[in-house]
Amino acid sequence: MSASTELTKEALGAIAKAHSDSELETIALDYLGRKSGQVTRLLSGIGQLEPKKRAALGQAANEAKRTIEGALAARRAELEGARLADIAETEAIDITFPGAPLGRGHIHVLTQVQRQIETVLENLGYQVELGPEVETEWYNFEALNISAGHPARENWDSFYFTPELLLRAHTSPVQIRAMQRIKEPPIYIITPGRCYRRDAPEATRLPYFSQVEGLAVDRGLTVGDMKGTLLFMIQSLYGKERKVRVRPSYFPFTEPSFEFDVSCGICGGSGCKSCRHKGWLEVGGCGMVHPQVLRNGGIDPEHWNGYAWGFGIERMAMSKHNVDDIRLFYESDLRFLDQF
Ligand code: PHE
Repeated sequence: MSASTELTKEALGAIAKAHSDSELETIALDYLGRKSGQVTRLLSGIGQLEPKKRAALGQAANEAKRTIEGALAARRAELEGARLADIAETEAIDITFPGAPLGRGHIHVLTQVQRQIETVLENLGYQVELGPEVETEWYNFEALNISAGHPARENWDSFYFTPELLLRAHTSPVQIRAMQRIKEPPIYIITPGRCYRRDAPEATRLPYFSQVEGLAVDRGLTVGDMKGTLLFMIQSLYGKERKVRVRPSYFPFTEPSFEFDVSCGICGGSGCKSCRHKGWLEVGGCGMVHPQVLRNGGIDPEHWNGYAWGFGIERMAMSKHNVDDIRLFYESDLRFLDQF
């Protein structure tokens, strides 16, 4: 057997036993390395041979080189194939496997209740009107008959930026803005939005809350019209079994004025822990718009009159869903929020 045939055989044996690229690398160097590869060395002795033998040896050596290179490439491909097959098996992605469910968000209960109120009243012909949360003293108080020094101001203890500018304490200033904008009655608007008062957080009140105000200005409106509208709104939202009542009260911007209560949804009015044994939940105030307030809005009280209400959206959500602590709405606890 010639030297190159022997080397080839030896190399092929080593290649067949190799199990990694680096082993193949070592074998390649060992046989075909530029300086000390065994096949290379075979060729370097060629100069000493007599010319006739040179060609034969050169050919044999080149043949050996090609064979070894071929075997190296084939073995590399084989190892790579095995590696990929192994990955395919161990790291396979089962595309039929059901994915992890993605949590789906939903609309906050207060927004839900606000939108329901809007829908009920829009169906009655009311339009949504928005006003600024940073209000002037005039819109928030003066135009509503609550002048400086009026004892009723204590009910709207407010956050001031300057003596003129404050966070609105109720949505009633939007009554004035709506009258000024629309000018010509009939006016039927509701105005939902955030309000702020200097109150410490407790189970029934917060320093920030939402109200939805309603204002109707037309000819010959009565307390009966107002009560009918509010009863319709409450029963549309909560169900026909709920009762409502008005109690005489006082607001500088309405005359007469009332507090508005809804029967407790848990005890049905007989009194329980949730309604603090009253049987009723207070949701807000209402009344017939004071003539001076109409005038402040640019409307002649000789020709027009109106009614208005301002209800707390949190209070409405509490009485709708039988929640007994207002703070729950703002704690962002999903165990609470996911119920709605
Ligand atoms: N603005 C009053 C409040 O915040 C509620 C109200 C509005 C009362 C409209 C009567 C008419 O307490």
